[in-house]
Amino acid sequence: MSVTELSRNSAIMPTPTLNPTVQPLLDVSGITKLYQPGKGCQDISFDLWPGEVLGIVGESGSGKSTLLRVLSGREAPDSGSVNYQFENGSQASLYDLSESDRRRLLRTDWGVVHQHPMDGLRPRVSAGGNIGERLMAVGNRHYGDIRNQALDWLSQVEIPTDRIDDMPITFSGGMQQRLQIARNLVTHPRLIFMDEPTGGLDVSVQARLLDLIRNLVTDLGLSVVIVTHDLAVARLLAHRLVVMKESRIVESGLTDQVLDDPQHPYTQLLVSSVLQG
Ligand SMILES: Nc1ncnc2c1ncn2[C@@H]1O[C@H](COP(=O)(O)OP(=O)(O)OP(=O)(O)O)[C@@H](O)[C@H]1O
Ligand SMILES: [Mg+2]
Repeated sequence: MSVTELSRNSAIMPTPTLNPTVQPLLDVSGITKLYQPGKGCQDISFDLWPGEVLGIVGESGSGKSTLLRVLSGREAPDSGSVNYQFENGSQASLYDLSESDRRRLLRTDWGVVHQHPMDGLRPRVSAGGNIGERLMAVGNRHYGDIRNQALDWLSQVEIPTDRIDDMPITFSGGMQQRLQIARNLVTHPRLIFMDEPTGGLDVSVQARLLDLIRNLVTDLGLSVVIVTHDLAVARLLAHRLVVMKESRIVESGLTDQVLDDPQHPYTQLLVSSVLQG
């Protein structure tokens, strides 16, 4: 089944219930990070709500990955703020935290799924070790427990459990990507950043991975910011979309609204070129 077929056949993502007393998980305000004029991201603002999947779409070079690095605490912006609401209700401005607090956040509450899975995996550590490492980072020291959780997560992401002691470099691209997802989810993060998680995978592997991500998001109530240039992926996963062009947001809204009734000429072009393609 292709991604397009999968997205056509599946019901849209159930929208999380918005409770007026709930605060946004991320409050992004006026983020700018420019490498050169027009290269990077400029004046980006949006809220991300608990349980919400926000898609960032746009052409190559429009600044999607730059924005994701800033949002996930890996690259300080030139200006603007990213406010995060912790589980206990307290708030922090990401770049006012110390470097070590920011790193701790990335190891605990947050996860990052890289476009190239080996960027998010440790090549010389076994599959089980890659999953176990995240558990140890949050203080788990019980070997048997760590191994059992690693086995459980391997089967959740459909990696044969007898591969637990194999190195990730011996895995296919699709398996590496699933391992990266398992490594990120084992600690039950609240928020995951994904950069083109299905890029470079063949179509049937992509469809299965998307189905897996969809189910995990719904079952675990995850909040996700996902970058993709593939509108079928966006349609399948995202509740809301922001469309970027030349470093700025040109349109945003509910996924179906943006894709079925695009307002900005660039979004119209994007949608129509996919239909023709
Ligand atoms: N570290 C860097 N130093 C200098 N320029 C950079 C750096 N990172 C990104 N850029 C430039 O900023 C612009 C946005 O890049 P970015 O990687 O964010 O785009 P993107 O939307 O993720 O593209 P793609 O879809 O190809 O991944 C590009 O022109 C890129 O060359
Ligand atoms: Mg990119």
